[in-house]
Amino acid sequence: MVIISLIILFLMIGAAGWMFWFWNNDPCPPLDPQEWWGPELEGKMDTSVRPFEVKFSEEMIADLKHRLLNTRTPPPPLEGAAFQYGFNSLHLNSWKKYWIETYNFTERERFFNQFQQFKTNVQGLEIHFIWVRPKAQTGVEVLPLLLLHGWPGSVREFYEIIPLLAQQSDKEFVFEVVVPSLPGFGFSDAPVRPGLGGPQTAVVLKNLMERLGHKQFYMQGGDWGGLVAADLATLYPEAVLGFHTNMPAVKHPCAIALTALSVLFPSWIVDPEVVDRTNKLQLYWRAGGYLTLQATKPDTINVALTESPLGLLVYILEKFSSATNPRFEERADEGLLDKFSREQLLDNAMMYWLEGRTAVRLYADGVHEGTKRWRLNIKPTPVPTWVLQAKHEIIYQTPTALRFKYPNLLNVTVMHEGGHFFALEEPEALAEDLFTAVKAFREFHERQKG
Ligand SMILES: *[C@@H]1O[C@H](CO)[C@@H](O)[C@H](O)[C@H]1NC(C)=O
Ligand SMILES: *[C@@H]1O[C@H](CO)[C@@H](O)[C@H](O)[C@H]1NC(C)=O
Repeated sequence: MVIISLIILFLMIGAAGWMFWFWNNDPCPPLDPQEWWGPELEGKMDTSVRPFEVKFSEEMIADLKHRLLNTRTPPPPLEGAAFQYGFNSLHLNSWKKYWIETYNFTERERFFNQFQQFKTNVQGLEIHFIWVRPKAQTGVEVLPLLLLHGWPGSVREFYEIIPLLAQQSDKEFVFEVVVPSLPGFGFSDAPVRPGLGGPQTAVVLKNLMERLGHKQFYMQGGDWGGLVAADLATLYPEAVLGFHTNMPAVKHPCAIALTALSVLFPSWIVDPEVVDRTNKLQLYWRAGGYLTLQATKPDTINVALTESPLGLLVYILEKFSSATNPRFEERADEGLLDKFSREQLLDNAMMYWLEGRTAVRLYADGVHEGTKRWRLNIKPTPVPTWVLQAKHEIIYQTPTALRFKYPNLLNVTVMHEGGHFFALEEPEALAEDLFTAVKAFREFHERQKG
């Protein structure tokens, strides 16, 4: 308790310092809306939107299986340890065997291609995206929705929810869904020079939506997807009709101070029903090391992740376990299969094995460039916002703290289950909440007009 109090004291002193610095600093310099992130342009820029299909080539499959078969056996876990020290090596074999013998590459390739996908060049980067346009039905409006994943997720997180959003018929509206792979993730190009953090990624995505004919749209995102969407809502509030997120992270100094206080004195500040959600420090100490690693030396860990599919898989699975429920580390089977199927998790790993190999760099550019240079995350945005709070989300802030950034926070949905990968874990609940939120966004705009 003493240590925690000291840490919180430091956090509060830090927040006070930050506040001082914030109020004595110049406003953010404007971002270049056409900043070029790719290699030097040769010839004319191609702005066409081209169909794309996921392909699992024979060579890739043979190489992957060869690497899996030739994995060396890691040291055995400590006596009595489950997943407290990281991925338990006694569980490697079941995943390895499944990936080699049961994971059906032909069937999974078809699964990936069930939705239409495209690529288009934005600011020098080939951006991959799923684009589902529902069939027109009389009396049903079609609303554009940008869905954004984070790390170590991918567009795969949204495969279960896409049909729920695009094919509802009893509602007054359905969604035209655009699901891009963030730059450096999945099948999207990575930038060739430093500096593509959250705000710069937001510029790329806004340009993508414009190219698809949408000057205004709704957004949903968690993890980095939520952070990038927050930057987009801050930079271009006129483009965003409403923002739904399951991971808001408000860094306004007052919100940080309030969040620190809610850790220290939860029962004074937080509703009894969510009081157990306030203290996430334990999770950061036990499972947060990757943040520093990826924010400082991403290319070093990338060598290991590029060499070994099993290494890549367990690195990702460990995050899916601890961020879905921190108690899973005490379980001998890491709890993952309670919530997800092996196909879902291996599909997601495939998104990193195939091409998304520089994704971890987003932490370096996101933390250093994004935050320090632009400081957008402390600027409020007038965009109407709706927050879903899953039981085990890795950040908890009270609605009051969230309002420092989102003065038009229309509601907070408190879920009594679910974790960080909410779209994949609870697609029905997320879809239902999105419909409710967008209905409220529309009513908000009606009121503004009226
Ligand atoms: C893999 O999936 C394909 C397509 O669904 C199917 O034709 C094939 O029989 C499956 N292979 C195995 C080994 O189950
Ligand atoms: C806001 O959320 C609360 C709890 O989740 C719910 O009871 C209430 O009806 C919601 N209000 C609106 C306007 O949707």
